[in-house]
Formats: sequence, C-alpha cells, structure tokens
Amino acid sequence: MTDLLNISNLSVFYGATAQAVEKVSFSVGPGSVVALLGANGAGKTSIMKAIAGLIPARGQIRFEGEPVEAAPARERVRKGIVYVPEGREIVGNMTVRENLVLGGYHLSGSRRRQRIDMVLDLFPEIADKAERSAWRLSGGEQQMLAIGRGLMAAPRLLLLDEPSLGLAPLLVRRVFDRLSAIRKESDLAIVLVEQNLAMTMRLCDEVHFLRAGRLVGQRTREELKEDSARQEAIEAYLGASA
Ligand SMILES: Nc1ncnc2c1ncn2[C@@H]1O[C@H](COP(=O)(O)OP(=O)(O)OP(=O)(O)O)[C@@H](O)[C@H]1O
Ligand SMILES: [Mg+2]
Repeated sequence: MTDLLNISNLSVFYGATAQAVEKVSFSVGPGSVVALLGANGAGKTSIMKAIAGLIPARGQIRFEGEPVEAAPARERVRKGIVYVPEGREIVGNMTVRENLVLGGYHLSGSRRRQRIDMVLDLFPEIADKAERSAWRLSGGEQQMLAIGRGLMAAPRLLLLDEPSLGLAPLLVRRVFDRLSAIRKESDLAIVLVEQNLAMTMRLCDEVHFLRAGRLVGQRTREELKEDSARQEAIEAYLGASA
C-alpha cells in the first residue's frame, strides 16, 4: 500500500546556521495517526510547517506518491494537507461561521455549506454561536473552531499542533473524542503533536520521538500499551541522560 505521506531527509534551517530539524524521515499510512513527541524546541512545529509548505525546508515530501516539496502552501491545502496551528490563530473579529468559510475558501458554494453543516454537527458547542464573533468563544470552543476550520478544507492529512494546549482536562477529552469520531467516519490521517501523552495514546497508531531536531526512536501503539513500557520509552528517548 502506498503511504499517504512520506518525508525523507527533511531539514529545516532558520537563518544560515540554525538548524531546527535534521534529516527527519517518516511516513504516514492512509487513515493512520502518527504522533511526534519531543521537548519544547525539539522541532515538532517546524516539521509540521515544513510539510504544510509554510516554511522553507530541504528534503523530499511525497503525498500520495507525488513530490510536493516544491508546491506552494495553497496547493498543498488543495491536495488535502491541512495544518491546524498551535495557539489556535482564529480570526477574532469575524464570526464563527465566517472563520469556517475561510477554511473552505477553495470549495464550491454548495460543498462549503455542506462542510459547515458537518463541522457544526461535530461541534455543537460552537453551532449555537455560529453568528457570534470568534473572540467571544471560550478557549476550548476556540480550539474546536480551529480544528473545525481545518476540517473545512476536506483534508486527507490533518497536521494538528498541540490541540489540547491551554484546555481543561474535560475539554481535552471532548476534543479528542471528536477527533476519534472523525477518524472513524472518514479516511483522515493525522500527524499529532501533543504534550498530553494519555490522550495521544488513545488516538495514535505510532509515536516518533524527537530530540534536538532528530528522530531518535519509534514505537507502535501496541508497544506502548503498558505504563511501564511508555515510561521506559520516554526515559530512553526524551530523558536527560539519553
Ligand atoms: N521563526 C524562527 N526563527 C528562528 N528560530 C526558530 C523559529 N521558529 C523556531 N525556531 C527554533 O527552532 C527550533 C525548533 O522549534 P519548533 O517550534 O519547531 O519546536 P517545537 O518542538 O514545536 O517546540 P514547542 O514544544 O515549544 O512548540 C527551536 O530551537 C526554536 O528556537
Ligand atoms: Mg511547537
């Protein structure tokens, strides 16, 4: 089976010498969830942005077997690669509905309306507030809107950067429950960056450990089932002495 996403020797530099990501390679199968785990500054966001075409990078990025590393970000969105940034970045002075429209800017009117209904169905918390300015939403509702806006683009691959950031545990659970539901209903693949390991393990099929810009290890969900195995992997790959 062809991978949905295949990245090979991906490197990201900020300026001439600061290397944030060093020759990272991994792939994501259709409909699977791959998590990137690493300390602050390890390069997780840089990898996601490079895949989405939002920052320059070196190396190969193949999507459905086709090279996309030269394609501009907009074209990657059209192909189905959608990045949901950390910190939400919704447009506060637009309404919830307008934010969703923005996410599906490249769709036809009827398709867009269909997807807005789908997203509001998925997140009833924001459906009640569709005509309100987005800044009036709570933090959790803003996160739902950010994910909903990402889903508007009809993604095949969702790049989710810390969806639980700043959310109360109950809301984190709710957001992850919705993500599980979306996964079950569609063939959506996800690259997930998340500090909440328990939630990550509920959703993901595979975890890659990232340290100072390099991939240092990999485990399947099965291999991390036991608490002790999880602890061991974290210490081996992310611990100070590793
Ligand atoms: N715009 C930028 N200019 C210069 N350096 C940057 C820039 N963005 C990130 N970096 C550096 O690149 C490295 C990787 O950053 P990145 O944001 O990818 O890490 P991260 O794993 O997402 O961290 P966090 O968990 O804190 O979000 C860090 O050393 C960071 O300081
Ligand atoms: Mg980050």
